[in-house]
Amino acid sequence: MAYEFTKEDLKQIEEIKSRYPAVMPATLPVLWVAQNRFGHVNPDVQKLVAETLGLPQAHVHGVAEFYTQYYKEEKGKHVLDVCTCLSCQLCGGYDILHYLEEKLGIKKGETTQDGMFTLNEVECLGACGYAPMLQVTNDQYVNHLTKEKVDKLVDSLKNGEKPQYEKIGMPQHENI
Ligand code: FES
Repeated sequence: MAYEFTKEDLKQIEEIKSRYPAVMPATLPVLWVAQNRFGHVNPDVQKLVAETLGLPQAHVHGVAEFYTQYYKEEKGKHVLDVCTCLSCQLCGGYDILHYLEEKLGIKKGETTQDGMFTLNEVECLGACGYAPMLQVTNDQYVNHLTKEKVDKLVDSLKNGEKPQYEKIGMPQHENI
């Protein structure tokens, strides 16, 4: 498949470039433009980014590889990143991961046949106080997971609804 940016993408890329005194710092945001357009930044998309910015492919590849948030291959429409790092693990992160594997009929790292969900096991996402948790496609966090909450989440994503933003209270704001 040949990847090409649209006119709008190219306009956005020019605007991004104008924010920096050099081209190199534009790599990260332009990779986002590419991922939003194509759903991933596989090696062909990385090449397109490099050519568009006039940068070495090795540089773009290095940046894309460093961050797990850039998808180096096609993913499902919704990517569920389940944290199993220490706090989440102690609060049942693996139970949630295995429940999702069973529910979706895939193993971690795989995508459902209908292309709807990719399931990943990830390291700490910085929300340890709200364990166990997962992140949906580099965006919304879903906290204090239970099997019921997972069921609701999967159903709502299938119905095209975004998970609700959960307002998190900090301990210092609680009435004690
Ligand atoms: Fe899961 Fe930190 S351990 S968010």
